[in-house]
Amino acid sequence: GGLAGLQFVGEDTPSPIGPRSPAVAQAEAARTSTGRAVQRRLRVAPATLDLGGTTVQTWAFDETVPGPEIRANVGDELHVHVRNSLPDPTTIHWHGVALRNDMDGVPGLTQAAVEPGSVFDYSFVLPHPGTYFFHPHVGVQLDTALYAPLIVEDPAESGNYDEEAVLVLDDWTDGLGDSPTDVLAMLKRNGMEMGGMEMGGMEMGGMEADPEAPLGEDTGDVAYPAHLLNGRLPSAPVTVGSRPGRRIRLRLINAGSDTAYRFAVGGHRLTVTHADGFPVRPVEVDTLILGMGERYDVVITAGDGSFPIVAVPEGKPDPAASGVLRTGSGTVPPPDVRPTELERRMLSYADLSPTDDVTLDRRAPDREHELSLQMGDGGRQWLINGASYGEHEPLDMRAGERVRLTLRNRSMMFHPMHVHGHTFAVADRAGRGLRKDTINVLPMQTVTVDLEADNPGQWLVHCHNIYHGELGMMTALSYV
Ligand code: C2O
Ligand code: CU
Repeated sequence: GGLAGLQFVGEDTPSPIGPRSPAVAQAEAARTSTGRAVQRRLRVAPATLDLGGTTVQTWAFDETVPGPEIRANVGDELHVHVRNSLPDPTTIHWHGVALRNDMDGVPGLTQAAVEPGSVFDYSFVLPHPGTYFFHPHVGVQLDTALYAPLIVEDPAESGNYDEEAVLVLDDWTDGLGDSPTDVLAMLKRNGMEMGGMEMGGMEMGGMEADPEAPLGEDTGDVAYPAHLLNGRLPSAPVTVGSRPGRRIRLRLINAGSDTAYRFAVGGHRLTVTHADGFPVRPVEVDTLILGMGERYDVVITAGDGSFPIVAVPEGKPDPAASGVLRTGSGTVPPPDVRPTELERRMLSYADLSPTDDVTLDRRAPDREHELSLQMGDGGRQWLINGASYGEHEPLDMRAGERVRLTLRNRSMMFHPMHVHGHTFAVADRAGRGLRKDTINVLPMQTVTVDLEADNPGQWLVHCHNIYHGELGMMTALSYV
């Protein structure tokens, strides 16, 4: 189905607002480019992966999880040759990047899906430095191992830290035999009747691999759901090695499909320097929560010894994702250790304000859209303004306008709302203007964000709980 009024890829009539419009090419030509090209190849295929003593059958980029990191400088042109060796169509979406619309990877909206056995060449300028990631934008493919970091460096920032580590979080909801597609089918059939949905993430524990099996019944499989840090289970944790006194920039990415994480490093405070890739005035905290699709960069000054790196699934009883920071001797912390930092000073959005160079000037909105976020049909659907993806009128905006989105969560679950192709400014926190592309809207909370209509095309706005998105909680902004 299509969004009424939107121009879809593959339709015959070329449209002035379609993804391949001259406006898209013009906007790309106006981006500042270094003229340097970064070339990569990416194979998207079924894979057998070792999560640290446990082997799983899944789908992955180049047979690794996380997939291979892509790193470039701001202004570089990225060329990625993608080969789809999956049995299903796929695409790649470059999460958080304000790129040209026809490279955004949304099937039906910005490109035709890449069919099994086919290739697609992504190529675009990287306009802003920061911590990003990439993943397919088809069904629940993100909830396999199909995700990888995209790091866009700013050469001007290199003196602010001594070294860095990228830490990617993921929920492994599919126990052996349970594919994300099975989980989606079960949600479509049974909605929230499976129980366990409270304030935080959705419980998917204890489900039988057989979709006909009775719901809410614990299989007794204690290993799943599990949580991964850089593709490793806590039983075989990843180690960040360093030396005492070094300033380490941790680039944190929540690639989980259904889990928000509370993150801490035992014995260390976190100086938050970037939110969703954009710089903030530094704030020191002990812990922070990353909703699905959110990123934070934090700097720590390494202590002497071995310290736990822990990410606890918010609102779930599951075991945490964990790793080790090792700068000297000391016993490796056991995987179930919970540093007291997790209970100390926690970051809130209100603590953060943008640095001057990324502050969106204050201005009254030219146009406002309201998005009411609700459950439908007992959780078999997740709706925006009472309708599912494909049923909405597009949310329009015009070149140069300031557009305000009011996100009203009328449910009891988190909705990490993500806007493609733009970094908005949070408008309702005493005008602080925090720049982000994904914001975790808490149960029954309303958040207002402003964006500048400066990137022509058709852009998704959706919940980054990938199951909510697939069950309808997506719509599109159309730049006319
Ligand atoms: Cu990371 Cu539309 O998604
Ligand atoms: Cu949601």
